[in-house]
Amino acid sequence: MTKSLHECFHLPNPRLPLLFLAPMAGYTHAPMRRLCRQHGAALTYTEMTNDLGLLHASDKTWHLLETFEDEGPVVAHLYGSDPVSLSEAAARVEQTGRFAGIDLNAGCPVRKITANGAGAALIHDPRRIHAILAAMRRAVRLPLTLKTRLGPCPDRVAIFEILDAAEQAGADALALHGRFTSQGHGGPVHLDLLAEVKQRARLPIIGNGGVTSPRDAWHMLQETRVDAVMIARAAIGNPWIFEDTQAALACGNEPPATAFAGARPRRDLTEIRNALETHMAAEVELIERIRERYALPRNAAETDETLATTFRCHLFRYLHGLKGSSYVRARLHELQTLDAIRAAVASCLEREAAYRASAPDTQR
Ligand SMILES: Cc1cc2nc3c(=O)[nH]c(=O)nc-3n(C[C@H](O)[C@H](O)[C@H](O)COP(=O)(O)O)c2cc1C
Repeated sequence: MTKSLHECFHLPNPRLPLLFLAPMAGYTHAPMRRLCRQHGAALTYTEMTNDLGLLHASDKTWHLLETFEDEGPVVAHLYGSDPVSLSEAAARVEQTGRFAGIDLNAGCPVRKITANGAGAALIHDPRRIHAILAAMRRAVRLPLTLKTRLGPCPDRVAIFEILDAAEQAGADALALHGRFTSQGHGGPVHLDLLAEVKQRARLPIIGNGGVTSPRDAWHMLQETRVDAVMIARAAIGNPWIFEDTQAALACGNEPPATAFAGARPRRDLTEIRNALETHMAAEVELIERIRERYALPRNAAETDETLATTFRCHLFRYLHGLKGSSYVRARLHELQTLDAIRAAVASCLEREAAYRASAPDTQR
Protein backbone atom coordinates (compact mmCIF):
# COMPACT_ATOMS: atom_id res chain seq x y z
CA MET A 1 0.00 0.00 0.00
CA THR A 2 1.35 3.45 -0.86
CA LYS A 3 2.18 5.70 2.06
CA SER A 4 1.32 9.37 2.32
CA LEU A 5 4.18 11.89 2.26
CA HIS A 6 3.63 12.47 5.96
CA GLU A 7 4.07 8.76 6.70
CA CYS A 8 6.92 8.33 4.29
CA PHE A 9 9.05 11.18 5.63
CA HIS A 10 7.70 11.15 9.21
CA LEU A 11 6.37 14.69 8.86
CA PRO A 12 4.21 16.14 11.65
CA ASN A 13 0.83 17.92 11.34
CA PRO A 14 -0.99 15.75 8.79
CA ARG A 15 -3.64 18.41 8.33
CA LEU A 16 -1.30 21.19 7.17
CA PRO A 17 -0.56 21.45 3.43
CA LEU A 18 3.01 20.44 2.72
CA LEU A 19 5.48 22.93 1.27
CA PHE A 20 8.88 21.66 0.15
CA LEU A 21 12.06 23.44 -0.90
CA ALA A 22 13.10 22.26 -4.39
CA PRO A 23 16.65 21.24 -5.28
CA MET A 24 18.64 24.08 -6.83
CA ALA A 25 22.27 23.64 -7.87
CA GLY A 26 24.39 26.39 -6.36
CA TYR A 27 21.71 27.38 -3.83
CA THR A 28 20.18 24.63 -1.72
CA HIS A 29 23.15 23.77 0.43
CA ALA A 30 22.74 23.51 4.21
CA PRO A 31 22.41 27.25 5.07
CA MET A 32 19.50 27.91 2.72
CA ARG A 33 17.86 24.61 3.61
CA ARG A 34 18.02 25.26 7.36
CA LEU A 35 16.65 28.78 7.01
CA CYS A 36 13.77 27.61 4.82
CA ARG A 37 13.07 24.81 7.25
CA GLN A 38 12.99 27.29 10.15
CA HIS A 39 10.45 29.30 8.17
CA GLY A 40 8.12 26.42 7.40
CA ALA A 41 9.51 24.17 4.65
CA ALA A 42 8.53 20.64 5.66
CA LEU A 43 11.19 18.92 3.56
CA THR A 44 14.21 20.18 1.65
CA TYR A 45 16.39 18.81 -1.14
CA THR A 46 20.16 19.01 -1.57
CA GLU A 47 21.90 20.37 -4.63
CA MET A 48 22.22 17.78 -7.38
CA THR A 49 25.02 15.36 -6.75
CA ASN A 50 26.70 13.04 -9.22
CA ASP A 51 26.63 9.29 -8.60
CA LEU A 52 30.12 8.65 -9.99
CA GLY A 53 31.63 11.44 -7.89
CA LEU A 54 30.12 9.80 -4.81
CA LEU A 55 31.40 6.36 -5.79
CA HIS A 56 34.90 7.68 -6.41
CA ALA A 57 34.75 9.18 -2.92
CA SER A 58 35.49 12.56 -4.42
CA ASP A 59 35.54 15.28 -1.76
CA LYS A 60 34.48 17.70 -4.48
CA THR A 61 31.22 15.75 -4.71
CA TRP A 62 30.66 14.59 -1.12
CA HIS A 63 30.94 18.09 0.28
CA LEU A 64 27.76 18.95 -1.66
CA LEU A 65 25.92 16.55 0.65
CA GLU A 66 27.17 18.15 3.86
CA THR A 67 24.30 18.70 6.30
CA PHE A 68 23.71 20.54 9.57
CA GLU A 69 22.54 18.30 12.42
CA ASP A 70 19.65 20.63 13.21
CA GLU A 71 18.35 21.33 9.72
CA GLY A 72 15.43 18.87 9.65
CA PRO A 73 14.62 16.22 7.04
CA VAL A 74 16.66 16.48 3.84
CA VAL A 75 16.41 14.46 0.64
CA ALA A 76 19.68 13.69 -1.17
CA HIS A 77 19.19 14.60 -4.84
CA LEU A 78 21.30 12.42 -7.16
CA TYR A 79 21.92 12.44 -10.88
CA GLY A 80 23.41 9.93 -13.25
CA SER A 81 22.28 7.53 -15.95
CA ASP A 82 23.44 4.08 -14.94
CA PRO A 83 21.30 1.83 -12.68
CA VAL A 84 24.32 0.13 -11.11
CA SER A 85 26.29 3.23 -10.18
CA LEU A 86 23.20 5.15 -9.08
CA SER A 87 22.07 2.32 -6.82
CA GLU A 88 25.54 1.95 -5.29
CA ALA A 89 25.76 5.70 -4.77
CA ALA A 90 22.30 5.69 -3.17
CA ALA A 91 23.37 2.91 -0.79
CA ARG A 92 26.42 4.92 0.28
CA VAL A 93 24.30 8.00 0.83
CA GLU A 94 21.90 5.95 2.95
CA GLN A 95 24.81 4.64 5.02
CA THR A 96 25.62 8.17 6.19
CA GLY A 97 22.37 8.07 8.17
CA ARG A 98 21.88 11.78 7.49
CA PHE A 99 19.09 11.75 4.90
CA ALA A 100 15.32 11.36 5.00
CA GLY A 101 15.12 10.15 1.42
CA ILE A 102 16.84 9.81 -1.92
CA ASP A 103 15.73 11.47 -5.14
CA LEU A 104 16.63 10.84 -8.76
CA ASN A 105 16.96 13.85 -11.06
CA ALA A 106 15.22 13.26 -14.39
CA GLY A 107 14.56 16.85 -15.37
CA CYS A 108 17.73 18.93 -15.51
CA PRO A 109 17.96 20.41 -19.04
CA VAL A 110 21.59 21.58 -18.77
CA ARG A 111 23.58 20.25 -21.73
CA LYS A 112 26.56 19.11 -19.63
CA ILE A 113 24.19 16.79 -17.75
CA THR A 114 21.96 15.57 -20.59
CA ALA A 115 24.99 14.90 -22.84
CA ASN A 116 25.86 12.07 -20.43
CA GLY A 117 22.36 10.62 -20.56
CA ALA A 118 21.36 12.05 -17.16
CA GLY A 119 18.80 14.65 -16.05
CA ALA A 120 16.22 15.49 -18.71
CA ALA A 121 17.78 12.98 -21.13
CA LEU A 122 16.08 10.28 -19.06
CA ILE A 123 12.66 11.68 -19.97
CA HIS A 124 13.15 10.16 -23.43
CA ASP A 125 13.59 6.72 -21.92
CA PRO A 126 11.02 5.72 -19.28
CA ARG A 127 12.35 2.16 -19.38
CA ARG A 128 15.72 3.40 -18.19
CA ILE A 129 14.02 5.39 -15.47
CA HIS A 130 12.33 2.16 -14.42
CA ALA A 131 15.62 0.25 -14.44
CA ILE A 132 17.36 2.94 -12.38
CA LEU A 133 14.59 3.31 -9.82
CA ALA A 134 14.17 -0.46 -9.49
CA ALA A 135 17.92 -0.84 -8.84
CA MET A 136 17.88 2.03 -6.34
CA ARG A 137 14.80 0.52 -4.68
CA ARG A 138 16.63 -2.77 -4.17
CA ALA A 139 19.65 -0.92 -2.78
CA VAL A 140 18.02 1.35 -0.19
CA ARG A 141 15.27 1.32 2.42
CA LEU A 142 14.92 5.11 2.55
CA PRO A 143 11.98 6.73 0.74
CA LEU A 144 12.79 7.02 -2.95
CA THR A 145 11.48 9.85 -5.12
CA LEU A 146 11.81 10.98 -8.71
CA LYS A 147 11.91 14.62 -9.85
CA THR A 148 10.95 15.04 -13.46
CA ARG A 149 9.04 17.07 -16.05
CA LEU A 150 6.01 16.53 -18.30
CA GLY A 151 8.00 15.43 -21.32
CA PRO A 152 10.58 16.70 -23.80
CA CYS A 153 8.21 19.20 -25.51
CA PRO A 154 4.46 19.95 -25.65
CA ASP A 155 3.78 17.49 -28.47
CA ARG A 156 5.58 14.69 -26.60
CA VAL A 157 3.95 14.19 -23.22
CA ALA A 158 5.94 11.45 -21.51
CA ILE A 159 4.82 11.82 -17.94
CA PHE A 160 2.23 9.05 -17.94
CA GLU A 161 4.80 6.46 -19.01
CA ILE A 162 7.23 7.90 -16.48
CA LEU A 163 4.58 7.67 -13.76
CA ASP A 164 3.99 3.99 -14.61
CA ALA A 165 7.74 3.37 -14.55
CA ALA A 166 8.10 5.05 -11.15
CA GLU A 167 5.16 3.16 -9.66
CA GLN A 168 6.24 -0.20 -11.01
CA ALA A 169 9.78 0.34 -9.77
CA GLY A 170 8.56 1.01 -6.24
CA ALA A 171 9.21 4.75 -5.94
CA ASP A 172 7.49 6.44 -3.00
CA ALA A 173 6.62 9.79 -4.60
CA LEU A 174 7.02 11.80 -7.76
CA ALA A 175 7.96 15.49 -7.81
CA LEU A 176 6.67 16.97 -11.04
CA HIS A 177 7.81 20.27 -12.54
CA GLY A 178 4.78 21.15 -14.65
CA ARG A 179 6.81 22.26 -17.65
CA PHE A 180 8.42 20.50 -20.61
CA THR A 181 12.18 20.28 -21.05
CA SER A 182 11.92 22.59 -24.06
CA GLN A 183 10.53 25.30 -21.76
CA GLY A 184 13.56 25.42 -19.48
CA HIS A 185 12.42 27.33 -16.41
CA GLY A 186 10.02 29.71 -18.19
CA GLY A 187 6.63 29.72 -19.83
CA PRO A 188 3.34 28.37 -18.58
CA VAL A 189 3.08 25.69 -15.94
CA HIS A 190 0.59 23.08 -17.14
CA LEU A 191 -1.65 22.66 -14.12
CA ASP A 192 -4.15 20.68 -16.22
CA LEU A 193 -1.56 17.96 -16.87
CA LEU A 194 -0.39 18.09 -13.26
CA ALA A 195 -4.03 17.49 -12.24
CA GLU A 196 -4.34 14.55 -14.64
CA VAL A 197 -1.16 12.98 -13.31
CA LYS A 198 -2.40 13.41 -9.75
CA GLN A 199 -5.72 11.82 -10.65
CA ARG A 200 -4.09 8.78 -12.22
CA ALA A 201 -1.28 8.34 -9.71
CA ARG A 202 -1.24 5.80 -6.92
CA LEU A 203 1.83 7.39 -5.34
CA PRO A 204 1.90 10.92 -3.86
CA ILE A 205 2.57 13.76 -6.30
CA ILE A 206 4.62 16.82 -5.37
CA GLY A 207 3.69 19.74 -7.64
CA ASN A 208 6.35 22.19 -8.74
CA GLY A 209 6.68 25.17 -11.04
CA GLY A 210 5.77 28.83 -11.04
CA VAL A 211 4.78 29.17 -7.39
CA THR A 212 5.89 32.66 -6.39
CA SER A 213 3.21 33.55 -3.84
CA PRO A 214 0.67 32.00 -1.46
CA ARG A 215 -1.94 32.63 -4.14
CA ASP A 216 -0.01 30.53 -6.68
CA ALA A 217 0.31 27.72 -4.14
CA TRP A 218 -3.42 27.90 -3.43
CA HIS A 219 -4.18 27.66 -7.16
CA MET A 220 -1.85 24.73 -7.63
CA LEU A 221 -3.45 22.86 -4.74
CA GLN A 222 -7.01 23.71 -5.78
CA GLU A 223 -6.56 22.94 -9.45
CA THR A 224 -4.43 19.82 -9.20
CA ARG A 225 -4.97 18.36 -5.69
CA VAL A 226 -1.27 17.51 -5.49
CA ASP A 227 -0.04 16.19 -2.15
CA ALA A 228 2.62 18.87 -1.66
CA VAL A 229 3.84 22.06 -3.31
CA MET A 230 7.53 22.39 -4.06
CA ILE A 231 9.00 25.89 -4.35
CA ALA A 232 12.33 26.77 -5.97
CA ARG A 233 13.24 30.28 -7.15
CA ALA A 234 10.72 32.16 -5.04
CA ALA A 235 12.49 30.87 -1.91
CA ILE A 236 15.86 32.42 -2.81
CA GLY A 237 16.33 35.35 -0.45
CA ASN A 238 12.76 34.75 0.70
CA PRO A 239 12.59 31.91 3.24
CA TRP A 240 9.39 33.50 4.56
CA ILE A 241 7.45 32.28 1.53
CA PHE A 242 6.84 28.99 3.34
CA GLU A 243 5.31 30.47 6.50
CA ASP A 244 3.45 33.17 4.55
CA THR A 245 1.94 30.44 2.38
CA GLN A 246 1.11 28.22 5.35
CA ALA A 247 -0.67 31.12 7.03
CA ALA A 248 -2.57 32.08 3.89
CA LEU A 249 -3.63 28.50 3.16
CA ALA A 250 -4.82 28.01 6.73
CA CYS A 251 -7.57 30.57 6.04
CA GLY A 252 -8.99 28.30 3.35
CA ASN A 253 -9.89 31.11 0.96
CA GLU A 254 -8.09 32.24 -2.17
CA PRO A 255 -5.27 34.56 -1.02
CA PRO A 256 -5.57 38.08 -2.46
CA ALA A 257 -3.61 38.99 -5.57
CA THR A 258 -0.63 41.27 -5.09
CA ALA A 259 -0.42 44.38 -7.23
CA PHE A 260 2.54 42.99 -9.18
CA ALA A 261 3.10 39.40 -10.20
CA GLY A 262 5.59 37.79 -7.83
CA ALA A 263 5.62 40.84 -5.55
CA ARG A 264 6.47 40.09 -1.93
CA PRO A 265 4.70 41.49 1.08
CA ARG A 266 6.47 44.44 2.68
CA ARG A 267 8.66 42.80 5.28
CA ASP A 268 9.99 44.26 8.47
CA LEU A 269 13.53 45.50 7.88
CA THR A 270 14.85 44.01 11.12
CA GLU A 271 13.56 40.64 9.96
CA ILE A 272 15.44 41.02 6.68
CA ARG A 273 18.64 42.09 8.45
CA ASN A 274 18.38 39.19 10.92
CA ALA A 275 17.76 36.62 8.18
CA LEU A 276 20.73 37.93 6.20
CA GLU A 277 22.96 37.73 9.28
CA THR A 278 21.72 34.24 10.13
CA HIS A 279 22.26 33.11 6.55
CA MET A 280 25.77 34.57 6.35
CA ALA A 281 26.74 33.03 9.71
CA ALA A 282 25.49 29.66 8.45
CA GLU A 283 27.59 30.02 5.29
CA VAL A 284 30.65 30.59 7.49
CA GLU A 285 29.73 27.57 9.63
CA LEU A 286 29.38 25.40 6.52
CA ILE A 287 32.59 26.48 4.82
CA GLU A 288 34.59 25.97 8.01
CA ARG A 289 33.14 22.52 8.40
CA ILE A 290 33.85 21.67 4.76
CA ARG A 291 37.44 22.90 5.06
CA GLU A 292 37.85 20.72 8.15
CA ARG A 293 36.39 17.57 6.64
CA TYR A 294 37.23 17.63 2.95
CA ALA A 295 40.41 18.06 0.97
CA LEU A 296 39.26 20.65 -1.52
CA PRO A 297 41.67 22.46 -3.81
CA ARG A 298 42.58 25.61 -1.92
CA ASN A 299 42.58 28.40 -4.41
CA ALA A 300 44.12 31.71 -3.53
CA ALA A 301 40.82 33.00 -2.20
CA GLU A 302 40.41 33.57 1.51
CA THR A 303 37.37 32.05 3.20
CA ASP A 304 35.80 35.46 3.41
CA GLU A 305 36.23 36.13 -0.31
CA THR A 306 34.85 32.73 -1.29
CA LEU A 307 31.84 33.30 0.92
CA ALA A 308 31.23 36.78 -0.38
CA THR A 309 31.19 35.40 -3.92
CA THR A 310 28.77 32.56 -3.17
CA PHE A 311 26.55 34.74 -1.00
CA ARG A 312 26.12 37.54 -3.52
CA CYS A 313 23.50 35.60 -5.52
CA HIS A 314 21.37 35.23 -2.37
CA LEU A 315 21.98 38.82 -1.31
CA PHE A 316 20.16 40.47 -4.19
CA ARG A 317 17.13 38.34 -3.69
CA TYR A 318 16.92 39.36 -0.03
CA LEU A 319 17.10 43.00 -1.05
CA HIS A 320 14.70 42.55 -3.97
CA GLY A 321 12.40 45.54 -4.39
CA LEU A 322 14.03 47.65 -1.66
CA LYS A 323 15.21 51.20 -2.27
CA GLY A 324 18.95 51.08 -2.72
CA SER A 325 19.08 47.51 -4.02
CA SER A 326 20.07 48.72 -7.48
CA TYR A 327 22.84 50.78 -5.83
CA VAL A 328 24.11 47.57 -4.21
CA ARG A 329 23.83 45.70 -7.49
CA ALA A 330 25.87 48.33 -9.29
CA ARG A 331 28.66 47.85 -6.73
CA LEU A 332 28.60 44.07 -6.94
CA HIS A 333 32.26 43.78 -7.93
CA GLU A 334 33.28 45.74 -4.81
CA LEU A 335 31.59 43.28 -2.45
CA GLN A 336 34.60 41.05 -1.92
CA THR A 337 34.22 40.42 1.81
CA LEU A 338 31.38 39.76 4.22
CA ASP A 339 32.07 43.12 5.89
CA ALA A 340 31.65 44.84 2.53
CA ILE A 341 28.35 42.98 2.10
CA ARG A 342 27.23 44.03 5.60
CA ALA A 343 28.01 47.67 4.85
CA ALA A 344 26.10 47.50 1.56
CA VAL A 345 23.12 45.88 3.29
CA ALA A 346 23.13 48.54 6.02
CA SER A 347 23.10 51.32 3.45
CA CYS A 348 20.32 49.67 1.43
CA LEU A 349 18.16 49.13 4.51
CA GLU A 350 18.73 52.72 5.63
CA ARG A 351 17.48 53.99 2.28
CA GLU A 352 14.46 51.72 2.46
CA ALA A 353 13.72 52.85 6.04
CA ALA A 354 13.85 56.49 4.93
CA TYR A 355 11.55 55.70 2.02
CA ARG A 356 9.07 53.89 4.24
CA ALA A 357 9.08 56.78 6.70
CA SER A 358 8.10 59.08 3.84
CA ALA A 359 5.53 56.71 2.28
CA PRO A 360 4.35 54.49 5.14
CA ASP A 361 1.26 53.04 3.48
CA THR A 362 2.64 52.06 0.12
CA GLN A 363 2.37 48.31 -0.39
CA ARG A 364 5.40 46.99 -2.19
C1 LIG B 1 19.44 27.99 -10.16
C2 LIG B 1 18.59 26.77 -10.31
C3 LIG B 1 19.13 25.52 -10.07
C4 LIG B 1 18.35 24.37 -10.20
N1 LIG B 1 18.90 23.15 -9.94
C5 LIG B 1 18.13 22.04 -10.02
C6 LIG B 1 18.66 20.77 -9.69
O1 LIG B 1 19.82 20.63 -9.34
N2 LIG B 1 17.84 19.68 -9.80
C7 LIG B 1 16.53 19.80 -10.20
O2 LIG B 1 15.82 18.80 -10.26
N3 LIG B 1 16.01 21.00 -10.51
C8 LIG B 1 16.77 22.11 -10.41
N4 LIG B 1 16.23 23.33 -10.69
C9 LIG B 1 14.80 23.41 -11.04
C10 LIG B 1 13.96 23.68 -9.79
O3 LIG B 1 14.08 22.66 -8.84
C11 LIG B 1 12.48 23.82 -10.19
O4 LIG B 1 12.05 22.61 -10.75
C12 LIG B 1 12.23 24.94 -11.20
O5 LIG B 1 12.98 26.09 -10.89
C13 LIG B 1 10.74 25.30 -11.23
O6 LIG B 1 10.31 25.71 -9.95
P1 LIG B 1 10.07 27.27 -9.60
O7 LIG B 1 9.16 27.80 -10.66
O8 LIG B 1 9.45 27.25 -8.22
O9 LIG B 1 11.39 27.95 -9.65
C14 LIG B 1 16.99 24.48 -10.59
C15 LIG B 1 16.46 25.74 -10.83
C16 LIG B 1 17.23 26.87 -10.69
C17 LIG B 1 16.61 28.22 -10.95
